[in-house]
Amino acid sequence: MKTQFPSLESTHLPVMLNEVIKISSPSEGGVFIDCTFGGGGYSKALLKFPNTRLVGLDRDSSVSSIAKKIEKKFFSRFKFFNIKFSDINTTQEDNVDVIIFDLGLSSIQLNNLNRGFSFKSKKKLDMTMGLSKISAQETINNLSETQLKLIIKILGEENEASKIARNIVKARSKSQITTVDQLVQIIEKSKKKNYSSKINPSTKTFQALRIFVNKEITELINGIVNATKILKPGGKILVVSFHSIEDKIIKYFFSNYSENRPRPSRYFPENKKDSSNFLFERYINKTIKPSKEEINRNNRSRSAKLRFAIRSKNKFFHPFNLFKKFEKYLRVEEYNV
Ligand SMILES: C[S@@+](CC[C@H](N)C(=O)[O-])C[C@H]1O[C@@H](n2cnc3c(N)ncnc32)[C@H](O)[C@@H]1O
Repeated sequence: MKTQFPSLESTHLPVMLNEVIKISSPSEGGVFIDCTFGGGGYSKALLKFPNTRLVGLDRDSSVSSIAKKIEKKFFSRFKFFNIKFSDINTTQEDNVDVIIFDLGLSSIQLNNLNRGFSFKSKKKLDMTMGLSKISAQETINNLSETQLKLIIKILGEENEASKIARNIVKARSKSQITTVDQLVQIIEKSKKKNYSSKINPSTKTFQALRIFVNKEITELINGIVNATKILKPGGKILVVSFHSIEDKIIKYFFSNYSENRPRPSRYFPENKKDSSNFLFERYINKTIKPSKEEINRNNRSRSAKLRFAIRSKNKFFHPFNLFKKFEKYLRVEEYNV
């Protein structure tokens, strides 16, 4: 008998699955880490190739039930860890063939109105992905106006951050802001003149709060660096990103730590080919985007960008400049709530 409700995993359509599989070359077998397991879309597709072994990670414990089903079916070829991907080293894997990140939220998380990610929700302002220390409600009610302004401006790239922060502080002086719809009303009031804009007026503020609550930039930078540490020479790191801050970070890391990294300025002499100071082989600075058909089928994929890099033979070294370059985002994420 068919069930009346769709299964949890069927609510999320994997983005650019064909492209991810093609780049990963699973027909050659090997060890794969799916750092953002979600509905298990990528993991399941990779396990169809008989010589693959898969490790799935996700900070959200609610997807463990999906992982358990796969574990039962594939037994020794699949293992799941409910951890943040910055802790990828705790999996004890080394010499890995392919590591994949598909950033952000899954539709499973977005569609669950109790979690407070969607502006359609009237529930608690939560926005925690899992293993997060604070909620959006605590953030909104406890931080100073300046801190809120900087979070909304820097992590949400919202031009009207000052007005939104001011109105949040005004509203909370009367009573705590506890639900998503209360926050939506404050944002809409602050942004009245931009109503004709194509994107929902709350989009950027919600993005900022979600990134802050889950420390997504700190996670991303540490995640890609720690993944690079355990990739084997010739191994691939793939990242699907959904907004410009993420893409800037990935592009900088892959191109500035590759064999063909750009010169710091055109007045500098060409880089001497020191064969030990790059982490990736020649990097092709090109993003792969979903096809029109995929965007029609899955609107969520419209802003996705896929980049990948190939690990060089060189010994790992800490990429200090990556942390320095994006310090502004890392600092904001450190605000104490
Ligand atoms: C876009 S979904 C991945 C969907 C998956 N590729 C699929 O096809 O079903 C992103 C998932 O990554 C998880 N996630 C986000 N940031 C994470 C982090 N820092 N560590 C571990 N998991 C993370 C989220 O909880 C979510 O389940």
